Amino acid sequence: MIIRHAQEGDAEQLQSFDVGGPTAWLDEVSEIVLGLLVWRSDPHAASRDRQVIVAVDGARVIGVTAHERIGGRHGPVWEHHRYLMVTAVQADQQRTGPARLLIESTFADLRANGCESVEWLVHPRNRSSIQFSRNSSQRPTRRNRQRIIPT
Ligand SMILES: CC(C)(COP(=O)(O)OP(=O)(O)OC[C@H]1O[C@@H](n2cnc3c(N)ncnc32)[C@H](O)[C@@H]1OP(=O)(O)O)[C@@H](O)C(=O)NCCC(=O)NCCS
Repeated sequence: MIIRHAQEGDAEQLQSFDVGGPTAWLDEVSEIVLGLLVWRSDPHAASRDRQVIVAVDGARVIGVTAHERIGGRHGPVWEHHRYLMVTAVQADQQRTGPARLLIESTFADLRANGCESVEWLVHPRNRSSIQFSRNSSQRPTRRNRQRIIPT
Protein backbone atom coordinates (compact mmCIF):
# COMPACT_ATOMS: atom_id res chain seq x y z
CA MET A 1 0.00 0.00 0.00
CA ILE A 2 1.24 3.47 -0.90
CA ILE A 3 0.32 6.63 1.02
CA ARG A 4 0.53 9.78 -1.11
CA HIS A 5 -1.10 13.12 -1.81
CA ALA A 6 -4.20 12.82 -3.98
CA GLN A 7 -3.81 13.66 -7.65
CA GLU A 8 -6.34 15.01 -10.12
CA GLY A 9 -6.39 11.54 -11.70
CA ASP A 10 -7.92 10.17 -8.47
CA ALA A 11 -11.10 12.22 -8.97
CA GLU A 12 -13.13 9.42 -10.54
CA GLN A 13 -12.29 6.97 -7.76
CA LEU A 14 -13.12 9.51 -5.06
CA GLN A 15 -16.45 10.19 -6.76
CA SER A 16 -17.40 6.51 -6.64
CA PHE A 17 -15.78 5.81 -3.26
CA ASP A 18 -18.02 3.45 -1.25
CA VAL A 19 -17.91 4.24 2.48
CA GLY A 20 -20.77 1.84 3.30
CA GLY A 21 -24.22 2.70 4.53
CA PRO A 22 -26.62 4.10 3.62
CA THR A 23 -27.08 6.14 6.76
CA ALA A 24 -27.46 9.89 7.08
CA TRP A 25 -23.96 10.24 8.51
CA LEU A 26 -22.25 8.00 5.95
CA ASP A 27 -24.06 9.80 3.11
CA GLU A 28 -22.51 12.97 4.49
CA VAL A 29 -19.05 11.34 4.50
CA SER A 30 -19.56 10.24 0.86
CA GLU A 31 -20.46 13.76 -0.12
CA ILE A 32 -17.33 15.13 1.56
CA VAL A 33 -15.11 12.50 -0.13
CA LEU A 34 -16.44 13.11 -3.63
CA GLY A 35 -15.84 16.85 -3.28
CA LEU A 36 -12.35 16.69 -1.78
CA LEU A 37 -10.31 17.72 -4.81
CA VAL A 38 -12.54 20.75 -5.41
CA TRP A 39 -12.36 21.55 -1.67
CA ARG A 40 -8.54 21.39 -1.78
CA SER A 41 -8.25 23.78 -4.69
CA ASP A 42 -10.62 26.47 -3.38
CA PRO A 43 -8.69 29.68 -4.15
CA HIS A 44 -10.34 31.44 -1.20
CA ALA A 45 -8.82 28.92 1.21
CA ALA A 46 -5.20 29.00 0.09
CA SER A 47 -3.99 30.00 3.57
CA ARG A 48 -5.60 26.86 5.02
CA ASP A 49 -3.03 24.62 3.28
CA ARG A 50 -5.65 21.98 2.53
CA GLN A 51 -4.24 18.50 1.98
CA VAL A 52 -5.87 15.32 0.70
CA ILE A 53 -3.98 12.07 1.33
CA VAL A 54 -4.86 8.71 -0.18
CA ALA A 55 -3.95 5.09 0.52
CA VAL A 56 -3.51 3.24 -2.76
CA ASP A 57 -3.40 -0.52 -3.21
CA GLY A 58 -2.27 -1.36 -6.75
CA ALA A 59 -4.17 1.22 -8.76
CA ARG A 60 -7.11 1.40 -6.36
CA VAL A 61 -7.70 4.20 -3.88
CA ILE A 62 -8.80 2.31 -0.76
CA GLY A 63 -8.56 5.07 1.83
CA VAL A 64 -8.55 8.83 2.07
CA THR A 65 -8.06 11.51 4.68
CA ALA A 66 -7.97 15.30 4.48
CA HIS A 67 -7.02 18.16 6.77
CA GLU A 68 -6.52 21.90 6.86
CA ARG A 69 -5.29 24.64 9.15
CA ILE A 70 -7.92 25.82 11.60
CA GLY A 71 -9.19 29.32 11.09
CA GLY A 72 -12.25 31.51 10.79
CA ARG A 73 -13.77 32.32 7.42
CA HIS A 74 -12.38 35.83 7.56
CA GLY A 75 -10.30 35.62 10.75
CA PRO A 76 -6.80 34.43 11.52
CA VAL A 77 -5.52 31.01 10.50
CA TRP A 78 -3.67 28.91 13.09
CA GLU A 79 -0.58 27.66 11.35
CA HIS A 80 0.15 24.72 13.65
CA HIS A 81 -3.37 23.60 14.52
CA ARG A 82 -5.36 21.44 12.13
CA TYR A 83 -8.85 20.21 11.55
CA LEU A 84 -9.19 16.66 10.24
CA MET A 85 -11.96 16.91 7.70
CA VAL A 86 -12.55 13.20 7.00
CA THR A 87 -11.06 9.73 7.13
CA ALA A 88 -12.71 7.00 5.07
CA VAL A 89 -11.91 3.52 3.84
CA GLN A 90 -13.67 1.61 1.05
CA ALA A 91 -16.36 -0.58 2.63
CA ASP A 92 -14.81 -3.85 1.43
CA GLN A 93 -11.43 -2.89 2.96
CA GLN A 94 -12.62 -1.67 6.35
CA ARG A 95 -11.26 -3.31 9.46
CA THR A 96 -8.13 -4.50 7.64
CA GLY A 97 -5.90 -1.67 8.89
CA PRO A 98 -5.87 1.03 6.18
CA ALA A 99 -7.19 3.87 8.34
CA ARG A 100 -4.62 3.25 11.03
CA LEU A 101 -1.79 3.33 8.47
CA LEU A 102 -3.19 6.39 6.76
CA ILE A 103 -3.60 8.33 9.99
CA GLU A 104 -0.25 7.27 11.43
CA SER A 105 1.53 8.37 8.26
CA THR A 106 -0.43 11.61 7.95
CA PHE A 107 0.05 12.58 11.59
CA ALA A 108 3.78 11.74 11.47
CA ASP A 109 4.08 14.10 8.53
CA LEU A 110 2.12 16.82 10.34
CA ARG A 111 4.22 16.43 13.47
CA ALA A 112 7.43 16.66 11.42
CA ASN A 113 6.12 19.93 10.03
CA GLY A 114 5.45 21.48 13.43
CA CYS A 115 1.77 20.73 13.85
CA GLU A 116 0.76 20.95 17.51
CA SER A 117 -2.82 19.77 17.52
CA VAL A 118 -5.40 18.04 15.39
CA GLU A 119 -9.10 17.99 16.06
CA TRP A 120 -11.98 16.27 14.39
CA LEU A 121 -15.69 15.69 14.75
CA VAL A 122 -17.39 12.35 15.22
CA HIS A 123 -21.07 11.77 14.60
CA PRO A 124 -22.53 10.26 17.81
CA ARG A 125 -24.16 7.39 15.89
CA ASN A 126 -21.10 6.50 13.84
CA ARG A 127 -19.89 3.57 15.96
CA SER A 128 -16.94 2.54 13.78
CA SER A 129 -15.67 6.10 13.71
CA ILE A 130 -15.99 6.43 17.50
CA GLN A 131 -14.18 3.12 18.03
CA PHE A 132 -11.49 4.04 15.54
CA SER A 133 -10.95 7.40 17.25
CA ARG A 134 -10.72 5.69 20.64
CA ASN A 135 -8.60 2.73 19.64
CA SER A 136 -6.22 3.89 17.00
CA SER A 137 -3.91 4.96 19.84
CA GLN A 138 -2.77 8.14 18.17
CA ARG A 139 -0.74 10.56 20.21
CA PRO A 140 0.84 12.22 17.22
CA THR A 141 0.85 15.80 18.35
CA ARG A 142 0.96 17.48 21.72
CA ARG A 143 -2.80 17.58 21.89
CA ASN A 144 -5.55 15.81 20.01
CA ARG A 145 -9.16 16.58 20.55
CA GLN A 146 -12.16 14.61 19.54
CA ARG A 147 -15.49 16.33 19.64
CA ILE A 148 -18.80 14.54 19.55
CA ILE A 149 -21.29 16.52 17.49
CA PRO A 150 -24.38 17.20 19.63
CA THR A 151 -27.60 15.89 18.11
C1 LIG B 1 -13.85 4.70 10.62
C2 LIG B 1 -13.03 4.05 9.51
C3 LIG B 1 -12.28 5.14 8.75
C4 LIG B 1 -12.03 3.07 10.13
O1 LIG B 1 -11.24 2.55 9.06
P1 LIG B 1 -10.64 1.07 9.04
O2 LIG B 1 -9.62 1.00 7.97
O3 LIG B 1 -11.75 0.09 9.00
O4 LIG B 1 -9.92 1.01 10.45
P2 LIG B 1 -8.68 0.07 10.82
O5 LIG B 1 -8.89 -1.28 10.17
O6 LIG B 1 -7.40 0.78 10.54
O7 LIG B 1 -8.92 -0.10 12.37
C5 LIG B 1 -8.07 0.46 13.37
C6 LIG B 1 -8.72 0.23 14.73
O8 LIG B 1 -9.90 1.05 14.87
C7 LIG B 1 -10.91 0.30 15.59
N1 LIG B 1 -12.06 0.09 14.72
C8 LIG B 1 -12.16 0.42 13.41
N2 LIG B 1 -13.39 0.10 12.94
C9 LIG B 1 -14.05 -0.46 13.97
C10 LIG B 1 -15.37 -0.99 14.12
N3 LIG B 1 -16.24 -1.02 13.09
N4 LIG B 1 -15.75 -1.48 15.32
C11 LIG B 1 -14.88 -1.49 16.36
N5 LIG B 1 -13.60 -0.99 16.29
C12 LIG B 1 -13.22 -0.48 15.10
C13 LIG B 1 -10.28 -1.02 16.00
O9 LIG B 1 -9.68 -0.85 17.27
C14 LIG B 1 -9.21 -1.19 14.93
O10 LIG B 1 -8.13 -1.98 15.33
P3 LIG B 1 -8.28 -3.61 15.31
O11 LIG B 1 -8.88 -3.98 13.99
O12 LIG B 1 -6.87 -4.06 15.47
O13 LIG B 1 -9.18 -3.95 16.46
C15 LIG B 1 -13.94 3.22 8.55
O14 LIG B 1 -14.81 2.41 9.31
C16 LIG B 1 -14.74 4.05 7.57
O15 LIG B 1 -14.27 4.44 6.53
N6 LIG B 1 -16.03 4.30 7.91
C17 LIG B 1 -16.90 5.02 6.98
C18 LIG B 1 -16.50 6.48 6.89
C19 LIG B 1 -16.51 7.15 8.23
O16 LIG B 1 -17.46 7.02 8.99
N7 LIG B 1 -15.44 7.89 8.52
C20 LIG B 1 -15.31 8.58 9.78
C21 LIG B 1 -15.98 9.90 9.80
S1 LIG B 1 -15.20 11.09 8.79
